[in-house]
Amino acid sequence: MKVIIVENYEEASQEAAKIFINQVKEKPNSILGLATGSTPVRMYELLREDHEKNHTSYKDVKSYNLDEYFGLDASHPQSYHYFMYKNLFNGIDIKDENVHVPCGQGNIQENCDEYNKMLAENPIDIQLLGIGSNGHIGFNEPADVFEEYTHCVELTQNTIDANKRFFESEEEVPRKAYTMGIGTIMRAKRIVLVVSGEDKADILRKVIEGPVTPKVPASILKFHPYVTIVADKAALSLCNKQY
Ligand code: F6R
Repeated sequence: MKVIIVENYEEASQEAAKIFINQVKEKPNSILGLATGSTPVRMYELLREDHEKNHTSYKDVKSYNLDEYFGLDASHPQSYHYFMYKNLFNGIDIKDENVHVPCGQGNIQENCDEYNKMLAENPIDIQLLGIGSNGHIGFNEPADVFEEYTHCVELTQNTIDANKRFFESEEEVPRKAYTMGIGTIMRAKRIVLVVSGEDKADILRKVIEGPVTPKVPASILKFHPYVTIVADKAALSLCNKQY
């Protein structure tokens, strides 16, 4: 895993934006794997600014998001579908038909099968990841096994606590979510993990220095041939190796 060390969140966002902009310039029909959460917000803003200023085009790009809350309609302001339009898609020229976020409503098995089929036919060129403080990627929570494909998960209390800031109250946070599996994430040709802030320092140390285990889902990234971790100094502060 290559680690790019940056000073702070702003630099991490710039670094990650640069990687994605170059990817789209080099391969205009790239298939992007995208994430939500706080981490990519500034990076997405930079992609929008770049599109406006430099006209980097996403007209031939396809995107597949990692996850979606179970039970939330795409128009719900806390749905990841809504998040993606607000933070990125409304500000670039990606086509609606090329945007894919797991469907939060309807039949669980049908939704998972459909997403898995699309992902099998559209291998991801570059996957953006953030990390939960419990080591989750997408909504692959700490578990006894690595799940391979898109599935519906019970969110852990840790994740519910972390995400309640986006809702009016904890009760409103959905208890389940759809997520791409670890197998699908690992099949992306390139993975970019962005980590910022000292509250991620403990888990980032476990990912970089600890064993590969489904108890720390992101630790599997060690087995991927092309992972770039963009991390700021606060996030790297507990690593034994000096960054
Ligand atoms: C969201 C996702 C999650 C987040 C993680 C970190 O699509 O895949 O794994 O990346 O929960 O969230 P933030 O960035 O809010 O700390």
